[in-house]
Amino acid sequence: MARLRVGVLISGRGSNLQALITACSAEAYPAEIALVISSRAEAPGVGVAAASGIPVAVIPNRDRRAFAAEAQPRLCERRVALVCLAGFMRILDANFVEAWRDRMVNIHPSLLPSFRGLHAQRQALAAGVRFAGCTVHFVRPELDCGPIIAQAVVPVHPDDDEARLSERILETEHRLYPLAVRLIAEGRVRVVPGVAEQVEIMNARIPDISALNPRDCPGEPLASKPG
Ligand code: GRF
Repeated sequence: MARLRVGVLISGRGSNLQALITACSAEAYPAEIALVISSRAEAPGVGVAAASGIPVAVIPNRDRRAFAAEAQPRLCERRVALVCLAGFMRILDANFVEAWRDRMVNIHPSLLPSFRGLHAQRQALAAGVRFAGCTVHFVRPELDCGPIIAQAVVPVHPDDDEARLSERILETEHRLYPLAVRLIAEGRVRVVPGVAEQVEIMNARIPDISALNPRDCPGEPLASKPG
């Protein structure tokens, strides 16, 4: 069966790109990366793509419409069927996003709809949540919005700082993104039309566990208040 042709848009490090490349290197994986577009020539992700022999286009244009006008023909030339945003740090032109409706996905380091925008992990720590995580969703013109395909939960540890929490979330991103792309490539993901725009996934195994953080454990009881 033909593999789904994926275009990946990046601006930086490219670790999620690498995770997708690694997944695609397995013969049984139903997708392949046909093109990487970077908004920055100096992005380390450009080297990640080049090292795997994947064609790379650098489109540094900051103007949204001009970026779209350059990106669209390149994606079409490479017969891309799914666009994956992976650390892409530009706001996209709304018409471009609409043109790729339900064929463009993003990964965000929070349990959306909480903590949209920049520094999601910092926002999570500031809010004192006990669980953070990451989300893969279809892209809509509003920032970090759109039907949710898959999420992973990551506990917040008492000694977490932004770097430690980000690292733990990132490891999970590297598992979640290839999984979500695989489900799409297998034709198992469908946006249910309606107000909430929920996503239906065929033949998915859903965990039936609930996690507690903190977990109750034997040991020192909490000190009782004096007086
Ligand atoms: C990831 O945390 C991703 O969730 C966010 O940007 C970061 C990109 O990291 N959208 P990388 O470039 O994939 O390493």
